[in-house]
Amino acid sequence: MFVTPIVSALSFLVCVYIYQKWSRYSAFRTAAAKYSCHRPRRYPHTEPFWGYDLVRKLAKAARKGQQSELYEELFRQNGKTFENRLFTTNVINTMDSANIQTVATSSFQDYAKSSEGERFLKPAFGRGVFTTDGAAWKHSRNLIRPIFSRSDMSDLNYLGPFIDRLFEKIPRDGSTFDLQPLSHKLGLDIATDSVFGQSVDSLLIETPFESFQFVKSFNAMLAGTGKRKRFGKLASLRFAFDTEWKKAYTEIHDWVDVQVKRALQETEDESQLSSEKGAKSEESSPQPRYILLYEMAKQIRDPVELRFQTLQVFLPAANTSPLILANCLFYLARKPEIWTKLRQDALALGDQPLTFELLRTLIYFRHVFWETLRVRGLSSPIVREAIRDTVLPVGGGPDGLSPIFVAKGTEVAMHIRGQGHDTDFWGEDVHTFRPERFTDRRILWQWVPFFGGPRICLANQQVQTQFLYELVRLVREFERIENRDECIEYIETTNPLMKSKNGVKIALFPA
Ligand code: HEM
Repeated sequence: MFVTPIVSALSFLVCVYIYQKWSRYSAFRTAAAKYSCHRPRRYPHTEPFWGYDLVRKLAKAARKGQQSELYEELFRQNGKTFENRLFTTNVINTMDSANIQTVATSSFQDYAKSSEGERFLKPAFGRGVFTTDGAAWKHSRNLIRPIFSRSDMSDLNYLGPFIDRLFEKIPRDGSTFDLQPLSHKLGLDIATDSVFGQSVDSLLIETPFESFQFVKSFNAMLAGTGKRKRFGKLASLRFAFDTEWKKAYTEIHDWVDVQVKRALQETEDESQLSSEKGAKSEESSPQPRYILLYEMAKQIRDPVELRFQTLQVFLPAANTSPLILANCLFYLARKPEIWTKLRQDALALGDQPLTFELLRTLIYFRHVFWETLRVRGLSSPIVREAIRDTVLPVGGGPDGLSPIFVAKGTEVAMHIRGQGHDTDFWGEDVHTFRPERFTDRRILWQWVPFFGGPRICLANQQVQTQFLYELVRLVREFERIENRDECIEYIETTNPLMKSKNGVKIALFPA
């Protein structure tokens, strides 16, 4: 009795499957004829249905801190563009500059960020500049953009007290300490101050309990996000009973909501705020300081929207700058001659105030910044999902030079770290930390650490300026740096952001 409907349903599903396959195939044939497309190299899966073999390999490499090395090997074996299966999705991995430029610019409209796979992030991160597309994304980006362009130019003196606190935590008798956690606290203190107008002061000698709790919850929130990211669309299933992440992000939301409430109250009467802030700025610095939350609160009055919009900027602000500073010192400790050179440049400035314009003139410092980003910048690929059938210019065919047809629903994973380690562009010594490689080198799309096109990182100038300020202060204060880690190699751990597994164990000697 039940057999007939079951058979009918199954037949229907089979017909849908065949129709989908056929329409994909005919779309490919049309594109192949029109653009001379060929298929990219396929990763040789041992389990081709779900691609679970590669998922396991990646998870194992991540556990051992060898994810970047694994991708390097995959590109070496499969060329600069190859395809793999990730559960139900086809992923095109590419480190080819022509493809990355196309996705970022000319085919921008063919791709979106907010794929199914990122949906699991919504409870923690809501909607904001990183998780939206189209009009909602434009709205978020337009809200944020002016704050970055103004903060670039503004007085950098507000960073001073935070660096002083860092100096208080650094032993001055040449004993060993780990800079990595200190750098993360520095980043957190600066980011909470500049995004919310209220620092958690985790670097203060007498650190308040809430600050410890904040750091703990924030780390748990990030760790939970990292775990989920690796499982993509299956994350909700895999972590359905894991309540720790929810507890962590709820605590962070509660903290942010207190700041949001205060900002909404204080911006209720705009003129009152302007005069108060004006007074504040006169006391401490000649220019007004722009605090993201307060600027946004003038335009967004919904507390939940305000929470998520600011949280999405806070996240990179609190993570990326400290990571770059810590990674830089990791390498400088192993190449102390670079420290000496930086110190000479910094001392040559005399006691001029460290302004944005002055910092921009420090060419060697900037090369050190770029080299740190190249060797140990952000390691996760930038992923986009094709929202319509489209084409990538290279990567197809046996020689990898033909265009590729990208069917709707395919993910394109752009590996910026791969670009930064491309021996065709950089030469054979890609693993050596050598800032001099940037001297007289013209770089366009060959390496885009801040991405490019309409979604280029909004903070690229600000990140560099903050880094230069911190490094100048450090080399002025300390004459010498020494590595105190027996392990010379950088062992990476990537949960959720890449950092050194062994920390950054160094000694600094005051002048
Ligand atoms: C060394 C540090 C940093 C690097 C290498 C970096 C890199 C990037 C990259 C590659 C993107 C594009 C991501 C994508 O489209 O999927 C991006 C976007 C963005 N970054 Fe950064 N970033 C850094 C620091 C920061 C900081 C400190 C902030 C905030 C204070 C920030 C704010 C943003 C914003 C708002 C976007 C979103 C742009 C959009 O989608 O319209 N970044 N960043």
